[in-house]
Amino acid sequence: MQKFIIIAAILGIKLTNAVKFVAQISDTKAVSEIFSQNFEQMNGEKGIGAINIGKSFQAIYGDFPDSILEAMYYDGRIMAMSMDRKLTAAEYVVQANAPPHLARLSQKAPLLKSDTTFIYHSNAGIGVDVYLLDTGIDAKNPGFEGRVQKVADYATGLAFEGDPHGHGTAVAGVIGSAQFGVAKKCNLFDVRIGDADGTASLISTLRALEHATKLAAVTNRPSLVVIPYTMEKNVVLNSALEAIVRDLSIPVIAAAGNTNQSACSISPASAYGVLTVGSIDVTKNDQLAPFTNHGECVDVFAAGVRVPSVGLDSYSEIQRSGTSMSTGIGSGLVAYFMSLGFYGMDAVNRVKSLSVSGIIPNMAQQLPSTRNSIMQNM
Ligand SMILES: *[C@@H]1O[C@H](CO)[C@@H](O)[C@H](O)[C@H]1NC(C)=O
Repeated sequence: MQKFIIIAAILGIKLTNAVKFVAQISDTKAVSEIFSQNFEQMNGEKGIGAINIGKSFQAIYGDFPDSILEAMYYDGRIMAMSMDRKLTAAEYVVQANAPPHLARLSQKAPLLKSDTTFIYHSNAGIGVDVYLLDTGIDAKNPGFEGRVQKVADYATGLAFEGDPHGHGTAVAGVIGSAQFGVAKKCNLFDVRIGDADGTASLISTLRALEHATKLAAVTNRPSLVVIPYTMEKNVVLNSALEAIVRDLSIPVIAAAGNTNQSACSISPASAYGVLTVGSIDVTKNDQLAPFTNHGECVDVFAAGVRVPSVGLDSYSEIQRSGTSMSTGIGSGLVAYFMSLGFYGMDAVNRVKSLSVSGIIPNMAQQLPSTRNSIMQNM
């Protein structure tokens, strides 16, 4: 048993009673050599057997004796080894009494008062890092379940921790909090750019983008960048974001802006390849939010009027309006699709292709160049 314990320790597994292993081997000849003459005899006993798939996959499995396990572990022809583990069914989870901005993602038609169900895949953003450039995130808030990490601070004159403003916490809440979030299991990375008054400088924003993308390259995990900030159209900011999308395949999600004008006249909404999100009121038949920017630079719309989220006081729920909230919902959805195996820009394309078109009222007459698209998660 001792050798087995050593191997178990090497493989980083916890011992349970019945332990089976599966080992992928480079060629079938290796099997008979590792087991010498014993394999035929053992085959069938203790659930030991072989699996061959296609031309290139061979494996053996079973409750092997310690001597064989050890021989296998150190044999160069064993390509990979794993304890038998559980796979969980890709189940869908139903959130009853969900807020309207989530319920709207799970159905094609406009919401009725009775529509309060959000149905989502149990992966829900797991293993995905969301870099939020904002005013900070209240990491201690229990709504985030300890998934917030402060990674950098480019604001001036503020204490390192927390969010004095509340904007970043509210956006993070619709991205990934337990109750209000689209991607309820994602990692929320706080990259603060907002000073005490909530505004951010262009240079701070660029330095924050550099920081986030360098870290994403080190972690090598699925990552996305969220900027719920706007400024008048700026070539430098747009170029930086276009490089992130084009050179690194990291999705960038941006706000359409709240000034009832063309999103093409502001940044980062006008940057090529960025997913730009505008606002509708999902409690009023999906009508366009009065403040939302529009035009061909807006890719898709989500709830943006009186959207409930996490407040700064740990137990409070706040409501906020604006394309920042819609951006949070869109970012949560990109993270959600990334956790389902859509990598990089494929996740952004998934958001666009699954969205339902033609529902926002009066769009064709009033804003013919604006896409009539509402986000969906399924
Ligand atoms: C938005 O701007 C247009 C003109 O560009 C105007 O007709 C419309 O009334 C404005 N909407 C609001 C809610 O102010």
